[in-house]
Amino acid sequence: MSDALRDRPRPVVNVRIVDDEQVLADTLAEFLTAEGHEVRVAYDAASALRKLAEFETEVVLCDIQLPGTSGLELLRKLRKQAPEAAVIMITAYATVDSAVEAFRHGATDYLIKPVLFDDLTARLSRISAGRALSIENQSLRRKLTRQMQSASGGIETIVGNSAAISAVKAWIVRVAPTRSNVLVTGESGTGKELAARAIHDLGSNPEAPFLPINCAAIPPDLLENQLFGHVRGAFTGADRDRAGLFVAAGEGTVFLDEIGEMPLTLQAKLLRAIENREILPVGASLPEKNRSRLVAATNKNLADEVTQGKFRPDLYYRLEVVTIPMPPLRERREDIPALVEALLARHAHRLGQVPRTVAPEALERLIAAPWPGNVRELDNLLERALILADGPVLTSSDLFRSFGRNAIASSDEPETTTTDDLREAIRAFEKRHLKRILAESGDDRRAAASRLGLGLSSLYARIKEHGL
Ligand SMILES: Nc1ncnc2c1ncn2[C@@H]1O[C@H](COP(=O)(O)OP(=O)(O)OP(=O)(O)O)[C@@H](O)[C@H]1O
Ligand SMILES: [Mg+2]
Repeated sequence: MSDALRDRPRPVVNVRIVDDEQVLADTLAEFLTAEGHEVRVAYDAASALRKLAEFETEVVLCDIQLPGTSGLELLRKLRKQAPEAAVIMITAYATVDSAVEAFRHGATDYLIKPVLFDDLTARLSRISAGRALSIENQSLRRKLTRQMQSASGGIETIVGNSAAISAVKAWIVRVAPTRSNVLVTGESGTGKELAARAIHDLGSNPEAPFLPINCAAIPPDLLENQLFGHVRGAFTGADRDRAGLFVAAGEGTVFLDEIGEMPLTLQAKLLRAIENREILPVGASLPEKNRSRLVAATNKNLADEVTQGKFRPDLYYRLEVVTIPMPPLRERREDIPALVEALLARHAHRLGQVPRTVAPEALERLIAAPWPGNVRELDNLLERALILADGPVLTSSDLFRSFGRNAIASSDEPETTTTDDLREAIRAFEKRHLKRILAESGDDRRAAASRLGLGLSSLYARIKEHGL
């Protein structure tokens, strides 16, 4: 990087736009020029490549769908001809998978149409900031990022192609590179944590830590300590300063699971952490900087919690700006075959078994089952079957027989519900079912939670709710 560029008060980026939608290309060019950048436009890949030598290009903004040479092919050529240039792919919702593909082939970033100007400016400043640090450093980081992604998985860890889950994936891909706080909502077992990890993995700092913490599982005092840290002498036994998760995460992600369970006093502190980007360790008089990103998850309806005075409205409004609702499995049954395949492969690998399949009649039953515990319930059922069954093909009886009982079909107790109201009937069923599984598990709640396909804390919540 030249000194002249480094010394400029406001970074000017040399941008080449490649898009066959001329109006879009020209609008972007006009906007970026007005922002002070140097811009050149090409309406197809061939002329973009031809003119590459004429113009020192730092950033290429490239539509993924180009006539003739496609955006992906152009990307491959750019990586050879102009390895220094950062390439931001522009994609439509429908082609999120190819955006991910582009990332693998060395794209620096991607934007989803319609391109938001603020979003674009943010990406460009991030790129120019990265360059100011060091170009080599950045390319190393990109390499590392890609390696990390193929190791920990980005969006492809979320299995399914239904419209519902595709929309979720598109949102994640769109939101991940921004530093926005994200709220992931959905029933238990729908993949909220998986989504949170994908947001982190596809974000701007995947190499920084992803630190999850479950607000329901930790007593309030300890939670405050864990999140915000403490200074020496803050309480008996605090013999040294200890950094909380927000500081430990650095520029990474803090994942607050079951945020609906966070006590009101801590909610105030959390609001300050995300609004003023400041945290106050327990016992400290001076705040510290919070640079982390927050992803929170809940299976509660936070708006209801606000109405009942259990959740701070200001925090709620701050969090719900970007909400990703995870769809229940019963609303995307077409994903079940792919999920079965992926989950079976994962467990077989872990258990050191050769991969096994599911018989067609069994798959039909899996597709039709109610899945109150969503993907986790399916996951547990398959794992149990792999452990208990012998044959290479899992049958209905392998899958649905659990401890001699039917795991997910209705309860053995007589149907006593008299109400016509569907929600009441489901609640009544849920209560009977919980009671039975708890009894069968000898009140071992961890075992019961696993059989039910629930997280331990959501089992506790349900036990409380039904007064069991
Ligand atoms: N779309 C998916 N593709 C693959 N695996 C999935 C998917 N959704 C969920 N899973 C798997 O199901 C299990 C439950 O997912 P996860 O822990 O993310 O759910 P959750 O919504 O956080 O549940 P809870 O509210 O009970 O904490 C995990 O093992 C996860 O890997
Ligand atoms: Mg979870």
